[in-house]
Amino acid sequence: QQQEKATLLKAYEFAAKFYHYVVGNTDQGKAAKGYLTSRGISDKLIDTFQIGYAPLMWDTLVQQLDKRGFDLALMEKGGLISAKHEGHGYVDKFRERIMFPICDSTGKVIAFAGRAMGDAQPKYLNSPESILFNKSRTLYNLHLSRPNMRKLQQAVIFEGYVDLIKAWEAGITNGVATMGTALTKEHAALLNRNADEIVICYDGDNAGQSAAFKSIPLLEDTGSRVSVAMLPDGKDPDDYIRQYGFDRFAREIIGASVPSMKYKLLYIRKNFKLHEDGERLRYLQSAVKLISQLHSPMEREHYLKQLASEFPDSSYEAMKLDLHEILLQS
Ligand code: CTP
Ligand code: MN
Ligand code: MN
Ligand code: MN
Ligand code: MN
Repeated sequence: QQQEKATLLKAYEFAAKFYHYVVGNTDQGKAAKGYLTSRGISDKLIDTFQIGYAPLMWDTLVQQLDKRGFDLALMEKGGLISAKHEGHGYVDKFRERIMFPICDSTGKVIAFAGRAMGDAQPKYLNSPESILFNKSRTLYNLHLSRPNMRKLQQAVIFEGYVDLIKAWEAGITNGVATMGTALTKEHAALLNRNADEIVICYDGDNAGQSAAFKSIPLLEDTGSRVSVAMLPDGKDPDDYIRQYGFDRFAREIIGASVPSMKYKLLYIRKNFKLHEDGERLRYLQSAVKLISQLHSPMEREHYLKQLASEFPDSSYEAMKLDLHEILLQS
């Protein structure tokens, strides 16, 4: 298996170079370059992230691998190419897609994500898990960001490839992306080893915000301090940068991230009609319950005071009594 791994790593490295060559040096690559430019991804970024293009052909990569003596059955097992549906032989897995190489923490290519340039489905086609690639332990771009994370003792988590790449251009060079999948315990541990503070910067839609809410305890369980960078409704980091520019993203989104407790209070608040007495009371109870989960009495006090000042008709003393009751029960 060690031998198979080594061979596959070589093949993935070759494939990444091949796709990257195509984007920069061929006629078919021109359309891909046009697409990337239209998304604000410069030549420099194409190089930094080794972005490529898989041309519209049945077996270009298969032929290239074959010519170089790679065992095609192993290549198929490693998720780099596909077996033909009918008959024998192999075909390329990725066709007519922008290719984002996914690396391990040392920078070796272990998988690809291929984005359709138009409306083809799926939007992103990903390499399957393999002896090289374990999704729950891989964070996109960790190899490039790790030194910066360590220096800043801060890591930023994005959902997507393009978000991470655009944020990099905005000077946020301590980011990783979870590639759409839910953040795992393994991811959380990996991040905690490299930084004290984790900033979650997920899309400003329901899916992204609920994923952010769920990721907080996973990250905090490893001992990290967590804050959340919030985007306007429906926008992701790439959309925001497009509309408002790099500087405002760095300052007003990443720079203005809020502590996890503040985020959680804002998040649950949306479920209550605060102008109705009963609902407002239920919100306050839920909020006090969240606050009661904080370990530090000083922090509990801080958020409780803030809550009380936001709702002047409810007394701080009553909230404090509620909090004590919850603490006694738990
Ligand atoms: N994703 C995926 N497969 C899909 C859709 C999404 O693997 N069919 C992953 C990708 O890593 C993607 C991330 O989930 O980057 C976030 O999804 P989404 O917000 O839908 O995509 P964007 O990153 O915004 O993609 P783009 O800007 O290219 O449209
Ligand atoms: Mn290059
Ligand atoms: Mn999304
Ligand atoms: Mn998105
Ligand atoms: Mn997007």
